[in-house]
Amino acid sequence: MPQKNASGLEGIMAGETALSTVGKEGLDLTYRGYSIRDLAAAASFEEVIYLLLYGSLPARAELDRYRSLLITLRDLPPPLRVILEQLPPTANPVDVLRTGCSALGTLEPEGQDRDAHAIANRLCASFPSMLLYWFHFHRNGRRIETRAEAHPTVADHFLYLLRGEPPSALHARTLDAALILHAEHEFNASTFACRVIISTLSDFYSAVTGGIGALRGPLHGGADEGAMKLLERFSSPDEAEAGVRKMLEKKEKVMGFGHRVYKDGDPRAPIIKGLAGQLAEEAGDRTLFPIAERIESLVFSEKGLYPNIDFYSAVAYHFLGIPTFLFTPLFVISRTSGWAAHILEQRAHNRLIRPLAVYTGPAPRPFPSMEERS
Ligand code: COA
Repeated sequence: MPQKNASGLEGIMAGETALSTVGKEGLDLTYRGYSIRDLAAAASFEEVIYLLLYGSLPARAELDRYRSLLITLRDLPPPLRVILEQLPPTANPVDVLRTGCSALGTLEPEGQDRDAHAIANRLCASFPSMLLYWFHFHRNGRRIETRAEAHPTVADHFLYLLRGEPPSALHARTLDAALILHAEHEFNASTFACRVIISTLSDFYSAVTGGIGALRGPLHGGADEGAMKLLERFSSPDEAEAGVRKMLEKKEKVMGFGHRVYKDGDPRAPIIKGLAGQLAEEAGDRTLFPIAERIESLVFSEKGLYPNIDFYSAVAYHFLGIPTFLFTPLFVISRTSGWAAHILEQRAHNRLIRPLAVYTGPAPRPFPSMEERS
């Protein structure tokens, strides 16, 4: 019996995947062999979803058909709208998506009428609708029309539903690239949670619901919101340096820094930083971006830690006018594509995921009667 305890499963090969290369010696981060840099520069998020779900990049006509399909899947069934209306306005929006996913699993269950690909497409298309339907109903008392056919991409659709007006080309392109960068990342905590759930032969919705629950935490998907809250505390780079220095002295974690796998830098971070920089320039920003850069150099010089994808995603989303509490739900919207691809892959080569634990409890002891217990 193996007794070695790999805390946090660090360094453990827990299975195989053909979907992405993360932290492999000499290899870039790739999705099905394509570099993340090429994908972020030249692909659209819908091409990436298609690539992850179907194994190859779509040809022009396939992409057009796929986008049209996703548009038809944006509508929310009436009972789901009622559920979203019943949720409190104070709910965590990630919980709204988690609940929406679970509810859709009862309204449109997996089975003869609906296979895994159909559900994957349905969730990718309808998560922005669920989130922003709930948001506008509670914020503005409006029941929004979620199909918005004139906005064919997921990024356009999201920004249009959020703001009620079409986004600029730069804004749509930036969100598109951010969605691509967040789509897939091997055996991260939420994806692994999905794989554990599906390995029991459970259904697709249960796996995605579990993935959302895992992503919600600040050590994973919630880090971008933590990074934004940190950035907003300061009004100048000097103030930020002093504040973060104090945090490091107190051994507090700086959200948006460090990574379990990437010890020499997250390859997604410079890409999202470049995009955030363009948005900062467009906005004429002289404060937030310089604050972020000062924190970056301080955390590196003091701790040798690089920013991960979440740090400059927070800056980019801020300049896109996205409220901070919608950052993590956006991550859900993107990562659903990766989760779905892993669910399909796990099912295709399934074996129940059931590791062992090193026992640290009491030695065997006699069961005491009620009188013997004090
Ligand atoms: N800020 C300050 N110190 C950090 C840090 C951060 N963001 N991330 C790691 N460290 C320090 C730890 O305090 C620890 O220091 P010590 O050895 O002096 O105790 C050391 O680096 C190792 O950290 P640890 O938490 O054990 O690494 P991990 O591999 O378990 O954690 C993360 C990886 C991502 C969970 C961790 O870096 C973190 O919590 N980052 C902040 C949250 C975040 O941005 N998450 C998004 C990831 S994409």
